[in-house]
Amino acid sequence: MPPSSPGPSRDDILALLKTVDSGTGGLDIVSRNWVKDVLTKDGHVTVVLEVPAAVGPKLEPVRAAAEKQIQALSGVLSATVVLTAESAPTKSAAAPQAKGAGGRIELPGIRHIVAVASGKGGVGKSTTATNLAVALAQLGHKVAIFDADIFGPSQPRLLGVSKLKPQSDGKKVTPLEAHGVKVMSIGFMIAEDNPIVWRGPMVMGALEQMLRDVDWGDVDVMIVDMPPGTGDTQLTMSQRVPLAGAVIVSTPQDIALLDARKGLNMFRKVEVPILGLIENMSYHICTNCGHREDIFSHGGAHRTADELNADFLGEIPLDLKIRETSDGGTPIVMAEPSSPHAKAYLDIAAKIWAKLDQGPQKAAPKINLGKMFGLR
Ligand SMILES: Nc1ncnc2c1ncn2[C@@H]1O[C@H](COP(=O)(O)OP(=O)(O)OP(=O)(O)O)[C@@H](O)[C@H]1O
Ligand SMILES: [Mg+2]
Repeated sequence: MPPSSPGPSRDDILALLKTVDSGTGGLDIVSRNWVKDVLTKDGHVTVVLEVPAAVGPKLEPVRAAAEKQIQALSGVLSATVVLTAESAPTKSAAAPQAKGAGGRIELPGIRHIVAVASGKGGVGKSTTATNLAVALAQLGHKVAIFDADIFGPSQPRLLGVSKLKPQSDGKKVTPLEAHGVKVMSIGFMIAEDNPIVWRGPMVMGALEQMLRDVDWGDVDVMIVDMPPGTGDTQLTMSQRVPLAGAVIVSTPQDIALLDARKGLNMFRKVEVPILGLIENMSYHICTNCGHREDIFSHGGAHRTADELNADFLGEIPLDLKIRETSDGGTPIVMAEPSSPHAKAYLDIAAKIWAKLDQGPQKAAPKINLGKMFGLR
């Protein structure tokens, strides 16, 4: 058990929410039936309010008041109240109503934000994101990792901090630090076996709050670990966050490369610069005899990058040690800094930094992503 106090129960939170006025004609937010979900974990409280879409934009003060009051409860380390629109995300425009605001999230202390993405799941995005972040820190930069995978957060485990909790002073959350990298993840707030069923507008609210409520301090580069595919997180991150660029991770197989193309094209359409492609699980060196095997016909990502006129940033071998060090919470660039694998990550990190540093990145998109993907 963590040393922190267990925090209030679900019932404690509900009792408190009964005192929060709905701002719409006298009733409290519980009586209005707006409280959709209350999750508590070791003093970290997440509440989801589902409100009629029409009044959603007016309810930011109610959301803020609820959050403040929960925060004031004894034993609460962090409080996150997410506002979401009532109707299921359908073709009509649900997203902009969810939190009223439509503008860009201001993150003044962060110089460059880089998304690590792929079209397909399980290709090693999170592993790559962690190792690149730690490598960038080893190169002397101030680095943060933002785990944007709210469906399956990996960063607390990969950085070996899954048992720790970020602390809050009631206003801002201080990010945890591991291997020289600041980190924020929904994984710190919710139990793995108690996930929220996120829907479109909720995804947006949760990501925005996690970004905004953290005291990131001075950061040269923030690495964003994206979930697979081209869904709501990609939508929010490319619309609301000033991304300097995206790095696409792919394995060498044809299918994965097709997905990599999709991922790459998505970012291009929304004018997020593609910093390049990485081929992960590229080849295997036999631990017994040193023989190199190209398990997935290595080289495909390089060819695809050429075809798509994107830079090829490098290849990472398929190696048990990369998995073992990740599982153990000490990424290989930290666990075995002089290994060829660490060097591969460091080379790629240096290339990424050079691209970021070479001048102002293109502004984030002004295009209507939702329309483009038919998401809403
Ligand atoms: N180069 C590698 N060599 C060996 N194992 C690897 C390598 N890269 C990733 N793995 C392993 O593959 C699995 C999937 O990796 P990871 O979680 O990083 O993928 P992901 O793309 O982030 O997945 P998701 O789409 O679910 O977020 C993990 O068990 C990880 O340890
Ligand atoms: Mg992942």
